[in-house]
Amino acid sequence: MPGELIDGKALAAKVRQQVAEEVTEFGEPVCLATILVGDDPASHIYVSRKHDASHEAGIDSRDHRFPSETPEQEVLEVVAELNADAAVDGILVQLPLPEHMDEATVTRAVEWAKDVDGFHPENAGRLFLGEPHLVPATPLGVMRMLEEHDVQLEGCEAVVIGRSEIVGKPMAMLLLAEHATVTICHSRTRELAEHARRADVLVAAVGRPGLVTPDMVKPGATVIDVGVNRTESGLVGDVDRAVIEVAGLMTPVPGGVGPMTIAMLLSNTLKAARHRRLGLAVPGA
Ligand code: GUN
Repeated sequence: MPGELIDGKALAAKVRQQVAEEVTEFGEPVCLATILVGDDPASHIYVSRKHDASHEAGIDSRDHRFPSETPEQEVLEVVAELNADAAVDGILVQLPLPEHMDEATVTRAVEWAKDVDGFHPENAGRLFLGEPHLVPATPLGVMRMLEEHDVQLEGCEAVVIGRSEIVGKPMAMLLLAEHATVTICHSRTRELAEHARRADVLVAAVGRPGLVTPDMVKPGATVIDVGVNRTESGLVGDVDRAVIEVAGLMTPVPGGVGPMTIAMLLSNTLKAARHRRLGLAVPGA
């Protein structure tokens, strides 16, 4: 019997609705600012979606777009202005940035209390220390999906394929915080299939179409596909679609993790607004 597909679009709509209600209850304006440099068409689409979703949830937004050749210093100046602007609650620098810019320098210039991407070392460090504040939206969305489907994490074998700062590493930390036994696999891992086959929860986040094949999946496992690969046959994930024949629960691409990322970004923006505007305590601070 094939497994069940997780409907990320439906869950994202639920989270967005919840954020919208909480924004209304909050009663103060909430504002997300984005910075996009260059002409990557996919990035322009993603950022526009983030603005549309913000407005739908009652969150104001500022949209800063710059040509590819913009000097890094100019972007850093805009980040500094947004950091200092009391009306701005969240700042997101869309990645990738053009080659001449250093992503770490630019993303770390964002004040950590407004870092709705959770990329700043303060936020990354808090997650590592088990005192999370703003957590990267994609792995946060995955955790929300697992929770919604009552996936048992305590004591389970969780295998994360990919060690990026945006997904793999924070994903592993979040699973660890829920007491999973976590293995991180990456491009140098020997016997990837063997590791993957042990997983009760398998997360693929590398950007290689069809990397995870049915023979790599334990029957009944939960398989989360974070891959976003544009191929001749359209948008595909890192997981071969045939894996649904083996998995117990699986996210599709598109319509799985993707929509959750935007929903959790809105949730992070509201969280940042609440903490900053109400002076709420941050764990460990
Ligand atoms: N590019 C691809 N994913 C992301 C993300 O989660 N945040 C930002 N800022 N850029 C991205």
